[in-house]
Amino acid sequence: MNVYLDNAATTPVLPEVAQTMLPYLTEFFGNPSSSHAFGRKTKSALEQSRRTIAKLLNCTPAEIFFTSGGTEADNLAMHAAIHDLGCKHIITSSIEHSAVIKTAEIMSKQHGLKLSLVQLDKNGDVDLNNLEELLSTNEKSFVTLMHGNNEIANLLPLQTVSGLCEKYGAILHSDTVQTMGHYEFDLQNLSIHFLNASAHKFHGPKGVGFLYVNKKIKINPEITGGGQERGVRGGTENISGIIGMAKALELSYTDLSEHEAHISGLKQYMAAELESSIPGIVFNGNSRNVNSLYTVLSTTMPPTSNSDMLLFLLDLEGVACSGGSACSSGASKGSHVLDSIGALKPRCASIRFSFSRLNTKEEIDFALEKIKSVCSEPVMA
Ligand SMILES: Cc1ncc(COP(=O)(O)O)c(C=O)c1O
Repeated sequence: MNVYLDNAATTPVLPEVAQTMLPYLTEFFGNPSSSHAFGRKTKSALEQSRRTIAKLLNCTPAEIFFTSGGTEADNLAMHAAIHDLGCKHIITSSIEHSAVIKTAEIMSKQHGLKLSLVQLDKNGDVDLNNLEELLSTNEKSFVTLMHGNNEIANLLPLQTVSGLCEKYGAILHSDTVQTMGHYEFDLQNLSIHFLNASAHKFHGPKGVGFLYVNKKIKINPEITGGGQERGVRGGTENISGIIGMAKALELSYTDLSEHEAHISGLKQYMAAELESSIPGIVFNGNSRNVNSLYTVLSTTMPPTSNSDMLLFLLDLEGVACSGGSACSSGASKGSHVLDSIGALKPRCASIRFSFSRLNTKEEIDFALEKIKSVCSEPVMA
């Protein structure tokens, strides 16, 4: 058996999604900018996808801009806030995805802007009093805080943060890559300027995403070219990807509460089993809390002689999960998220398990058996 528990990294494309995409790779291949029938066919499918997504989020189609994924959409929002909306102060946190934190560091240096990292409590939750203090300075602020943390599962109280930003006239972006398709969004009743998504996190294809830009603001092109996406993002659209993304989002919001109940049931079951069978296990951030991102469980295993090789051993046993760390050329680099909440412990391995609606209890039982066996080796002197 092979069990995939790395759904925060990416999810498999659902067969219904692949089927919807296929004709747009073969039969309906026209360039949507072409005025002939081939082009008109794909243009109409492109705009239908935009309408589908807008309807699911209760916004207008003109507020949806297609991108190559979450990273590009994060960058687009941040560039727009600084270049087009006159923000002089970036407020973010140390546990953002690299697409945000690295961009914030680079942009603040390039433009000589003030960069503030909001204080977090010991679990990694944003200190809202500190956020208000940062907002109350005179500069026009740009707040970028993620909705659901991909490593430690903390959820941002988006309505409260949006209220604070409104009070101080700040521009608000939330990276909703991990929550899109898992939580409902009603953009008529949320005061936010930007949020973004990546299709491969909700059973859509890779290399496609979108940015929601509130119609109250106007942004300039980031990628100049043929004027696609109403001039904001040049380049021939990834038609099959966009069609697949719209279908995947539609399927995510069909029976959402059933999916949520199933996934959080698996997560809570796994957490309880790990807790009772691995003495000394620690759950990072808020991930053990019932009010956390229900797809993610972050653990730190007690030290064993296998600590350095846990992920590798689990992989050999058929369990795919992640280290909550970026791995390059075989060497693990500690996660900046775990590091900033003080969860990196010497000789201990951090493992993130992340779930999708396709996982079964049988798979979790299989994974638990393997985890218990690789994590119970005695500590070497
Ligand atoms: C919170 C968050 N933001 C952004 C991204 C980047 O998305 P993409 O892979 O589509 O560039 C990811 C992907 O891991 C993510 O988890």
